[in-house]
Amino acid sequence: MWADLKPIGRNATSNGYRRYAWSGADKDCRTWFRAQAESRGLTYEVDRNGNQWAWQGDPQAGDAVVTGSHLDSVPDGGAFDGPLGVVSSFAALDELRRRGAEFTKPLAITNFGDEEGARFGLACVGSRLAAGQLTPEKAHELRDADGISLPQAMEAAGYDHSAIGPDPERLSRIGAFIELHVEQGRALDLTDHPVGIASAIWPHGRWRFDFHGEANHAGTTRLEDRRDPMLTYAETVIAARREAQLTGALATFGKVSVEPNGVNAIPSLVRGWLDSRAADQVTLDQVIAAIEQAAKAEAARAGIDLRITRESFTPVVEFEHALRDELARILSRDIPVLGTGAGHDAGILSASVPTAMLFVRNPTGISHSPAEYAAEDDCVAGVIALADVLEGLACT
Ligand code: GLV
Ligand code: MN
Ligand code: MN
Repeated sequence: MWADLKPIGRNATSNGYRRYAWSGADKDCRTWFRAQAESRGLTYEVDRNGNQWAWQGDPQAGDAVVTGSHLDSVPDGGAFDGPLGVVSSFAALDELRRRGAEFTKPLAITNFGDEEGARFGLACVGSRLAAGQLTPEKAHELRDADGISLPQAMEAAGYDHSAIGPDPERLSRIGAFIELHVEQGRALDLTDHPVGIASAIWPHGRWRFDFHGEANHAGTTRLEDRRDPMLTYAETVIAARREAQLTGALATFGKVSVEPNGVNAIPSLVRGWLDSRAADQVTLDQVIAAIEQAAKAEAARAGIDLRITRESFTPVVEFEHALRDELARILSRDIPVLGTGAGHDAGILSASVPTAMLFVRNPTGISHSPAEYAAEDDCVAGVIALADVLEGLACT
């Protein structure tokens, strides 16, 4: 499976993956998913929001055990964030068949669409739509950098977008959702365990800062006559780091766009995207308020018109204790239980469905980077753990 996925959407220069939702690379990943489903005799379907499903047993029977993750990536992402969960799901099913496990419940493997939000700015679009946490109206407003709307992108990829929206009937047929994911920090590495269970996902969100200044000539405009939005943006980046440090939160400006983006012109507009996360809501509110205040003060001083828009927000997710405890019982009681600052479809679904996550050790902690890595032995340990969990939940 890894050999098939390896070349899809891989950039030859960076060695990172660029598998953006509804792009050609995403389509190739989806074709791969379908082929994996069909080669195992699973019933393949696409739901109204473009999420892919592969069923063993009757999809209508209810109380299904579902596992899976996503195949899309951030710009220059690593090989494991997302695909490890999908590959491990198919491998765990293979392992259960090898064991001769007798299933008493339907089992499904999923690939949720547009988890990273790299193209349209909002993460977990497929699961948010299904869970009713993103309205079809708002989804229709989503645009990529070229102005292509989400429905247009789905249509161009050959997917029906006419019925995107909440899917309570489908979610009501799920008894448990388990997402396996590569860990995106070093907590497991520090505990010396290959696999862990998630306790909670930190609250997190994305804010767009639009700094409007005045375009002018870089060679003739006196410094004191400039209204340069780049400077205010730069001050805001520094303030974000300072405030994050003071509050114990995380704050990152990882994406920026500049207009007109000319070497010899003072920009008219600098648009920066802030990603911020914290262990609790109060801290997150605090850091965002402090960054906004600092940005506004700088903007006022420099004659910059600043507009701040919250583009997405996900509150804290505490995974259901009963299911967490069940996983710990199946896998052995001393398995590490850890929180994460990374967002996941599991976090979205947890409001509608009993949900749990397994993490696989990441020895460097690096993620959202081509350097993301997990050792083969640990990936195999993840598959075995997932198979044990699925067997415990779905078999006699
Ligand atoms: C998804 O990986 C996120 O946490 O941004
Ligand atoms: Mn990710
Ligand atoms: Mn992920």
